[in-house]
Amino acid sequence: MAASDSARVLITAALPYANGPIHIGHLAGAYLPADLYARYQRLQGRDVAFICGSDEMGVAILMRSLKEDTTPREIVDRYHPQIKEAFDRFGMSFDHYGRTTSDVHRETSQDFFRALAAKDTFTLTAEEQLYDPEAEMFLADRFVRGTCPVCGYEEAYGDQCEKCGSSLSPKELINPRSALTDATPEFRETTHWYLPLGELQPKLEAWIDAREDWKPNVMGQVKSWLTEGLRDRAITRDVPWGVPVPPDVAEAAGVAAEGKVIYVWFDAPIGYISATKEWAQAQGTPDAWKTYWQQDDTHLVHFIGKDNIVFHCLMFPAMLMEHGDYVLPAQVPANEFLNLEGRKLSTSRGWAVWLHEYLDDFPPDLLRYALATTLPETKDADFSWTDFQTRVNSELADVLGNFVNRTLTFTHRFFDGEVPPLQQVTAEEQAVLDALAAAPARIGDAYDSYRMREAIFETMQVARLGNKFFNDSEPWHTRKTDPQRAANTLHLCLQLCAALGVWLDPVMPHRAARLRAMLRLTDVRTSAPDAPASDRGWTAAGQPLLPEGHAIGEAEILFSKLEDDTINAQIENLRTRAAEMEESTDTPTPDTPSPEAPYAPPKDQITYDDFVKLDLRVGTVTTAEPVPKADKLLRLEVDLGYEERQVVAGIAEHMTPEEITGRKVVVVANLQPRTLFGLESQGMVLMSEDRDGTLNVLAAKGENGAVVL
Ligand code: 2FM
Ligand code: ZN
Repeated sequence: MAASDSARVLITAALPYANGPIHIGHLAGAYLPADLYARYQRLQGRDVAFICGSDEMGVAILMRSLKEDTTPREIVDRYHPQIKEAFDRFGMSFDHYGRTTSDVHRETSQDFFRALAAKDTFTLTAEEQLYDPEAEMFLADRFVRGTCPVCGYEEAYGDQCEKCGSSLSPKELINPRSALTDATPEFRETTHWYLPLGELQPKLEAWIDAREDWKPNVMGQVKSWLTEGLRDRAITRDVPWGVPVPPDVAEAAGVAAEGKVIYVWFDAPIGYISATKEWAQAQGTPDAWKTYWQQDDTHLVHFIGKDNIVFHCLMFPAMLMEHGDYVLPAQVPANEFLNLEGRKLSTSRGWAVWLHEYLDDFPPDLLRYALATTLPETKDADFSWTDFQTRVNSELADVLGNFVNRTLTFTHRFFDGEVPPLQQVTAEEQAVLDALAAAPARIGDAYDSYRMREAIFETMQVARLGNKFFNDSEPWHTRKTDPQRAANTLHLCLQLCAALGVWLDPVMPHRAARLRAMLRLTDVRTSAPDAPASDRGWTAAGQPLLPEGHAIGEAEILFSKLEDDTINAQIENLRTRAAEMEESTDTPTPDTPSPEAPYAPPKDQITYDDFVKLDLRVGTVTTAEPVPKADKLLRLEVDLGYEERQVVAGIAEHMTPEEITGRKVVVVANLQPRTLFGLESQGMVLMSEDRDGTLNVLAAKGENGAVVL
């Protein structure tokens, strides 16, 4: 069911971890599209609840507190207000922004857990896990350190080696030790509750198969999880931070509740429900949350980034299905990732634009617009400061700002600041009225179908049309030769400005309000959560909103251009910080490969005969250099002992020429040559690709030319 056919729209945006500030990657992934959608739905006059909050439980918070030698409580009390404030300044229009340390959340999560336990949904499993005898606690994978069995790095974590990027399990570490006390951990038995996703798979699969309008990038990931086969997931942990497992449930199961908490990915999505409860309470209608969560005619939409797909498309729906009292999501329009200046965003490398810092330098609406036009809706997208400048200067200032400004100043100069009458409408003028009337459905359809970029583009088309109409009509001539034409031109341009005052509200709520103020356009619906009701909303703006003779206000500049120096300072700042971070870390810190991304599906079997056809050889890279105009490629010269080869390899984004020069590699030596960017590639260097897309050149041993068997 579409939002327009539903009685109400319940919109959630992924709860950010309260262990660091928000950056543009978060905004482009989940928050901005969610806000655009929520604001648009409000302008349509639909009943909207837009819910978010801080994710304050889980190991990520605990880790951060240990790193800073403080408590998890101190961490969340520091970051929750910071995040909330930055969101406010950015114009996020949540109806409620909660936090998962609240009492309501604890009770709601425990009740949910209790309800599933009562239905016998869970299974219980006893297993051996590493235990720190000094700290007297079980150790999460991240709390175990030791020597990497792959590369020998002595500071590897229990789940991953940050030096070579290998995924590990704590049992594989050589000389494991507790990251908390340095004690040697021992194995102890512990019991955990599991959500039996394997058993629930057929039910989930049937539900997923019926989702006809989900985005291909989302469906692709979900299907690949299902093809791989869902594994049961432990939904409790032995860590000292989290929502406690309900003691009554533990007691009934004969398990000691002490120290057991609910896994963060079980409680976090329940945070959407608890935050809705808090919102309902704050409004004095404590039961209203049930209408949103429990009535079938609710349109529930989860806005998330792609790393959260499995939790929102499979795990949380499984929980909701098992519980039975809740609606399931109608849509999960997950976005792909946003890169920055052509490189992957990385907080550990300082390669990010932080929201609170951006807001100290620029107004929120410029970033809202620039990001909204670049959202990674179907594939990864890139944010660059120069693109930001172009969007602001060439689109907001030159197109939108210019149109508004020339319309308003002309009205003041030649029509006493009043909307002139529209009479004897020509075919060209009628075409403008028709375009105005058609726009709300066209833009609205894009929003309703989660195509936000297109919605913004179509909105700007109204300003483009206005500029063209103004130019073509030449009111500076017609005001002398044919005054009624000039009056009609300005009448129509003012109506277009007024409509933009409504339709720009989702993407640039602050500037749209200013535009409405300049036009003295009142009594129209706005997209703020607490806006007064009005009959004149999204669709009404397709008809002239300003009556003849209406007095407009002063014209102000809506958008000023950004100077090169301003933009260069930002680029410089970004590079300097990244360089500083690089220097201050003595170990390589690749981004954690998303442990939740699915593995590539297995390939078809081949015969031994197929295999021996490959001529694999050891070689040494003697030369490496960039390939002009090909950002991803390096030209390598490889010594194969019996001959030199030129290989063009797609690894430039993963390593520098210096890093690969001198390395022993495995080469597919009998691959038919191919020409790339004018260079013949005479073979292929073997690499592994992690689930997050990171490429690693496979290390080789042996003399050059040795055959790899
Ligand atoms: O990935 C994250 O940042 C998680 N904190 C998202 C949680 S979304 C939801 F389940 F609450
Ligand atoms: Zn390693």
